[in-house]
Amino acid sequence: MLIAIGSDHAGLEMKTEIIAVLKELGHEYTDYGTDTPQSVDYPDFGEKVSEAVSTGKTERGILICGTGIGMSIVANKFPNIRASLCNELFSAKMSRLHNDANILVLGGRIIGKDLAKEIVRTWMTTPFEGGRHANRLRKITLIEEKTVRR
Ligand code: RB5
Repeated sequence: MLIAIGSDHAGLEMKTEIIAVLKELGHEYTDYGTDTPQSVDYPDFGEKVSEAVSTGKTERGILICGTGIGMSIVANKFPNIRASLCNELFSAKMSRLHNDANILVLGGRIIGKDLAKEIVRTWMTTPFEGGRHANRLRKITLIEEKTVRR
């Protein structure tokens, strides 16, 4: 799978760890930055990754900022994006099973690197359950279409 990944300065260290996990799992990735510890604005990097997933350029994305909150807000502005902030394993699993999340968001200042790596492994390997959940996602798409027309 091709994964878009990005972070701000607060998520940079964790991004490097996550890239190692993606390689270990045999995935390809495009790194949209940031590349230095210098302070940057998370919407700039959230936009690049969300745009890549939203337009189908990459199948899924991973975003990291300090809390994960800013990146989640940015990503969920984009059509076709279901971004899930998962700072523990249960949410990571459920976000795939029930929500078919296509962007995983992590808080680089909230959790340690070992938990983050485990969350990525879980999120990357858990399938969408479909069934009644697919109908709920269709309803989200309808809401998206209605609100875009406003
Ligand atoms: C940067 O200081 C911090 O605000 C950012 O990484 C993120 O936590 C925003 O939600």
